[in-house]
Amino acid sequence: MKVLTVVGARPQFIKAAAVSRELRRRHEEVLIHTGQHYDEEMSDVFFEELGIPEPDDNLGVGSSSHGAQTAEMLAGLEERIEAEDPDAVLVYGDTNSTLAAAIAASKVDTRLAHVEAGLRSYNREMPEEINRVLTDHAADLLFAPSRRAVANLREESVPGAVHNTGDVMCDAVRWARDRAEDHSEILSEVGVESGEYVLATVHRASNTDDPERLAAILDALAGDPREVVLPAHPRTINRMREYEMYEEASERLTLVDPVGYLDFVRLQDRADAVATDSGGVQKEAFFLDTPCVTMREETEWRETVEAGWNELVGANETAIRRALADADPPGDKPRPYGDGDAAARITELLDDA
Ligand code: UD1
Ligand code: UDP
Repeated sequence: MKVLTVVGARPQFIKAAAVSRELRRRHEEVLIHTGQHYDEEMSDVFFEELGIPEPDDNLGVGSSSHGAQTAEMLAGLEERIEAEDPDAVLVYGDTNSTLAAAIAASKVDTRLAHVEAGLRSYNREMPEEINRVLTDHAADLLFAPSRRAVANLREESVPGAVHNTGDVMCDAVRWARDRAEDHSEILSEVGVESGEYVLATVHRASNTDDPERLAAILDALAGDPREVVLPAHPRTINRMREYEMYEEASERLTLVDPVGYLDFVRLQDRADAVATDSGGVQKEAFFLDTPCVTMREETEWRETVEAGWNELVGANETAIRRALADADPPGDKPRPYGDGDAAARITELLDDA
């Protein structure tokens, strides 16, 4: 069968790479990049190192308002899907690229498969939450990463077929961890020692676009006695400059450009703790046995919190500092996201579709 995969943002390249390795053994795959992320370190680096072929097409939409960006993707994708006439359109996660592809597939009446279906933060202020809900309700095949995600979908009575496949990020980390150990020199490049630093990421609009929240986060991180490495998303750098926080942050933190996947997995694996507002990073820290402090009020990855490996602290300076200082997860850990065979399960389920 022919599968048309749509990606556009950093985490989607990583998830699609994990699935693509399996998918391409059995099916023809056409890969369309919307161009939502376009900087070398936000896009090209992943295609170079993850062993996936270059996209067959890049719509080059770039950055703009959410509506304009989604509309431009929708128009381009509708055309590509019609031209390719695939048996299914495969989408990942909850970005504007996901939503645009979901609508495009439904407009041209092509089966839609959604990886990472059923996640809910129940915070409708998050653009991603609306993207997820709409995509799940448009999808014919829903690949949920956990039992809770399945339950969320049942609760909403989505019309498509729901399957618990486990989480593709678990597959991705397994693929990358040993390779990163052998090939990544990032610790020495950044100048940190294993186990002696905190790794941080911040890019969620609710944190970056609010100067008070961003200042609280940067102050909390700078107050940690360990070295704090922050590979900064371009959005975060832009806002730090706009709010005149950049100079001070670069003096107090080890601010670096976003790094490739193997380097980032290595940094997560060897960190004493992780502080983040990313969805993917919360889970990867969990898979890599690194305690995580999440600078959000809620998470769609609640199992990591219930297991005692992730603490939600919002953008509260005191709470972030305390959680980083006290992080002490339990020794045993459940496996709510499967065993790293999600890509194989998804490929099989697509086969039967
Ligand atoms: C998007 C997703 C978010 C995901 C994140 C992954 C939506 C609504 N949000 O957020 O769910 O967690 O990707 O990283 O889809 N920029 C660059 N270069 C790039 C990409 C972005 O400079 O290659 C800057 C631009 O100023 C842009 C801003 O970052 O306006 C935000 O980019 P955008 O793709 O709109 O959202 P993200 O914050 O990356
Ligand atoms: N990541 C990376 N380099 C970085 C920061 C993150 O490769 O400098 C990877 C990380 O390992 C994870 C994914 O990007 O797999 C998470 O993406 P992001 O935080 O941008 O988005 P989210 O998961 O919040 O949607």
